[in-house]
Amino acid sequence: MCGIVGAVAERSITAILLEGLKRLEYRGYDSAGVAVFTNDGTLARMRRPGKVSELEQALEAEPLVGRLGIAHTRWATHGAPCERNAHPHFSGDLAVVHNGIIENHEALREQLKALGYVFTSDTDTEVIAHLLSHKLKDLTDLTVALKATVKELHGAYGLAVISAKQPDRLVAARSGSPLVIGLGLGENFLASDQLALRQVTDRFMYLEEGDIADIRRDSVQIWDLDGKAVERETVQYRDGAEAADKGEFRHFMLKEIHEQPAVVQRTLEGRMSQNQVLVQAFGPQAAELFAKVRNVQIVACGTSYHAGMVARYWLEELAGIPCQVEVASEFRYRKVVVQPDTLFVTISQSGETADTLAALRNAKELGFLASLAICNVGISSLVRESDLTLLTQAGREIGVASTKAFTTQLVGLLLLTLSLGQVRGTLAAGVEATLVEELRRLPTRLGEALAMDSTVEKIAELFAEKNHTLFLGRGAQFPVAMEGALKLKEISYIHAEAYPAGELKHGPLALVDNDMPVVTVAPNNELLEKLKSNLQEVRARGGQLIVFADEKAGMTNGEGTHVVHMPHIHDILSPILYTIPLQLLSYYVAVLKGTDVDQPRNLAKSVTVE
Ligand code: F6R
Repeated sequence: MCGIVGAVAERSITAILLEGLKRLEYRGYDSAGVAVFTNDGTLARMRRPGKVSELEQALEAEPLVGRLGIAHTRWATHGAPCERNAHPHFSGDLAVVHNGIIENHEALREQLKALGYVFTSDTDTEVIAHLLSHKLKDLTDLTVALKATVKELHGAYGLAVISAKQPDRLVAARSGSPLVIGLGLGENFLASDQLALRQVTDRFMYLEEGDIADIRRDSVQIWDLDGKAVERETVQYRDGAEAADKGEFRHFMLKEIHEQPAVVQRTLEGRMSQNQVLVQAFGPQAAELFAKVRNVQIVACGTSYHAGMVARYWLEELAGIPCQVEVASEFRYRKVVVQPDTLFVTISQSGETADTLAALRNAKELGFLASLAICNVGISSLVRESDLTLLTQAGREIGVASTKAFTTQLVGLLLLTLSLGQVRGTLAAGVEATLVEELRRLPTRLGEALAMDSTVEKIAELFAEKNHTLFLGRGAQFPVAMEGALKLKEISYIHAEAYPAGELKHGPLALVDNDMPVVTVAPNNELLEKLKSNLQEVRARGGQLIVFADEKAGMTNGEGTHVVHMPHIHDILSPILYTIPLQLLSYYVAVLKGTDVDQPRNLAKSVTVE
């Protein structure tokens, strides 16, 4: 969640650290700080609550100039987001930044207090700084002391440390939180995400679980979990640094919503023949493994979980495979009974979500047939640790609220469904060919839905003064309604609930009055008439209806009913199309409410803590 950047160089590194932090701000943004071993031989730091721009202004007023430094952007877990809790944390001559959670921090804090260490923050990170300081009393070398320190930590950490006594090195440790070394010429860098360093290098070395690294200007040394010196592969990225620019759009979120036709097209590219999905898109052993699959277990969090919920309808209807879907934070702590020949599928934009990763690691012990990751980041832990992978091609998503990642995940999951149906012989070739054809047309349909942008913007005005909203859907549109409600609450802070429309009269109908807008998606399918009856129940209680309906669904505007017509689409693909107006709706409501659309309060893009 938090972001880490570090540098050891011949040149002044503060501007590099700041630029890195800006690129990482999507991970967490409630405070930021930097510690530099300055050219006059002291360890100095600057920390500020709020965004990186606050820190930048403070550094303009009081520059820190040096050739060794670490920096951090924080998403608070222990202690309020304020200056004294912002990283880096100091202990004597040491500065430490940390991403993760130390579970035994309270016990360690008590031991260290008894030894005379004084705490100035509420964070678990300060415990690491003091513990390392203490170890250094006997084990004078920084990496040796760091190895001894991490042995006493329970939990997750990505750590970067500098010491005024050993100012030629930056040391790092990884367990549960990603870290990557950026390799330069006569200078080296460290970050929690390579994006932070694309301005200075295109060569990277990923630390693995349990690794400790000693990074100097002209060398990098790494030890694995067992203390053995190891080499890690150098990866070179030849593409230019990914653009982090909003173009003509006011927010990244709006830009990313409008990118969906292009990224869906990219996600489909090379994965379908004329009539069929190419099963090998999931990996060389996919066909052999898919033939054995008798059940599917999907595990994910948040928006990715909603994608999994849609996939359940597809897998059961089209491939005839029983499917269970569960949020990772529940799955990982439950005693799970695994049916024979179950494929374990994780879905994640980042591939670093702590709960999803932990669920995958647990699954390996539970006797699943194989694991498959549907993920947007090829170099993520989830991809590295899964047997099979399908990379979504959404490109970098900067808006914290996930949009294009969701629709490309849906595309990946539909490809999976068709592949399983094909290999197991449970899906008629004609049905597969029709859906392949429909998938080919999908980018055009998405473009048509996006053309409704200004209509949806107008509808958003109905929500500006509201505090609560209900989202309804039936069948595979129920998870779409859940995703619509999640988007609205995330970025506009309006309370939103999603229900299967048939559940309305079992409780939530009591909430409906003319102050509660009810949003629903109504493709022209066999559930339409049932949905219409549910909408009558809402109207009869004075509820305001906002309906995104198929142009042939026979729904029209009326008193208290606002209908937006959607292009016609094959029912199987309708969850992908109907997501678009709900994304636009949340976006425009948030803009009207004046919230920070791309970086909503209390959230972070990549949730690498539990
Ligand atoms: C919502 C959102 C989150 C993520 C969730 C999982 O807009 O972005 O709910 O979907 O934190 O993240 P990933 O997909 O990276 O595992």
